[in-house]
Amino acid sequence: IGALNIVLVLVASCLLFLLACRKKKFKNLPPGPTPLPFIGNMHQVDVKELIKSLRELSGTYGPMYTFHLGSRPCVVLSGYKVLKEALIDKAEEFSGRGDFPAVQMWSNGNGIVYGTGERWRSLRRFAISTLKNFGMGKRSLEERIKEEAQFLMAEFRKTQGKPFDPTFFLSCAGSNIICTLVFGDRFEYTDKKFLTLLDLINSNWKLMSSTWGQLLFTFPKIMRHVPGPHRLIYKNYLKLAEFVRERIEMNRETLDSNHMRDFIDCFLIKLQQEKNNPDSHFSEETMSKTTVNLFFAGTETVSSTLRYGLRILLRHPEVEEKLHEEIDRVIGPNRSPCMEDRSRMPYTDAVLHEIQRYADIVPMGVPHTVTRDIEFRGYTLPKVKPTATASLTDGPSGLCLKTFKNPNSFDPTHFLDENGRFRKNDALMAFSAGKRVCLGESLAIMELFIFLTSILQSFNLKPLMDPKDIDITPESSGLGNIPRPYQFCLLPR
Ligand code: HEM
Repeated sequence: IGALNIVLVLVASCLLFLLACRKKKFKNLPPGPTPLPFIGNMHQVDVKELIKSLRELSGTYGPMYTFHLGSRPCVVLSGYKVLKEALIDKAEEFSGRGDFPAVQMWSNGNGIVYGTGERWRSLRRFAISTLKNFGMGKRSLEERIKEEAQFLMAEFRKTQGKPFDPTFFLSCAGSNIICTLVFGDRFEYTDKKFLTLLDLINSNWKLMSSTWGQLLFTFPKIMRHVPGPHRLIYKNYLKLAEFVRERIEMNRETLDSNHMRDFIDCFLIKLQQEKNNPDSHFSEETMSKTTVNLFFAGTETVSSTLRYGLRILLRHPEVEEKLHEEIDRVIGPNRSPCMEDRSRMPYTDAVLHEIQRYADIVPMGVPHTVTRDIEFRGYTLPKVKPTATASLTDGPSGLCLKTFKNPNSFDPTHFLDENGRFRKNDALMAFSAGKRVCLGESLAIMELFIFLTSILQSFNLKPLMDPKDIDITPESSGLGNIPRPYQFCLLPR
């Protein structure tokens, strides 16, 4: 906090001039708390718990208000209704990507996740169709996930009921699925290089969700020059990009257009096809950035949901017991779980949805911008860079809690009707919505279902402390909600 104060004062004194110049641009933004020069509204929030603070502000200012992240006005949309009006009803207008300073230095606005405009559109279309060709959302990939689940179980069995931290096991499993699609191969759980890459991804996700990450998000110009762990984000991205470059070279040397092995092969062929098109959006750089995007987004999200989910189940043994009951009844002990089982397993389905709601692993979504000046709910949202629109889902850390009867508790009945049947709730937007909806959604859903049911089919979870003492609130919250680190035991059933 001491360091934070120093930075805030530093920022306030350095940027005094800029705000006066900027203010004129934003005429008719929704009302919000009054900002101070340069620090904006940061004095009104707890940087460590930005999301919680934003939620409290929405209690005062409603589902749409302007919040100043330093000198950048940001329109905060909170709750299902306004998010639907924006991301779905005005999908095209809200499809821009807002500033994301923590990654900007590496991404340069290129690639899918942080890209925008026509290049983003072409890359996204290309990625979706290519990943589908390699089985995303189809039976063939389901088989791959089932196979990976068995590798994961074998690794878990090696722990012999002793305490361990599941982070890297789960990262390996989740990552190996996207690696199959992107690099055409899986990696061994003992592969040192693979583990280093997973560590880079895990560290960056944590850094982007830390107080340092929030400060970088808020005061990018200053923080880029202030020493601190946040500066590792850029370096880690460079290391990931270096690995991807090596893989691209390996593919290039053995490329055979009659036998496409993976996403990288398809991109290389696309580059050849487009080489005489001066307006092409496909270049070596877009290939590298897009591949890193897929590798990153496909690794950390699934594994942190599972890691968070298992911790929640350790806290709630009564839920674990019901899951065992349903798994034993529907699947039994002798065959691997598959997606067809899901429709006959409403309780498991509800628990998975509730884990996604409660864990809320991307609590503010990824910032959006509007693609042109628009009138929205009586206000004008301008198409200028500094206006980021944060979207927030309805988890405990999200903003609008009214749609769930018991919002701050983990309660699978949020997704069950009176007869114990699965009940969907549109207010859960873990994958966001609209034109930028997560493009790995169908893949992630398969992975979550198969990995979690496989674990509980084979093992009982054993906590190292009284379940009531397990804290299931996040350790830190920023781009991601980071579950607290933990160890536990898996006892074969
Ligand atoms: C539990 C797992 C996952 C969650 C909760 C999740 C959530 C999200 C969210 C909230 C966004 C931002 C959408 C927006 O801008 O409005 C996103 C974008 C994205 N996700 Fe996922 N994701 C998950 C898994 C995956 C997987 C497995 C992949 C791999 C293919 C993936 C690839 C992407 C990509 C490429 C984007 C950027 C889309 C764009 O900007 O057009 N995600 N995801």
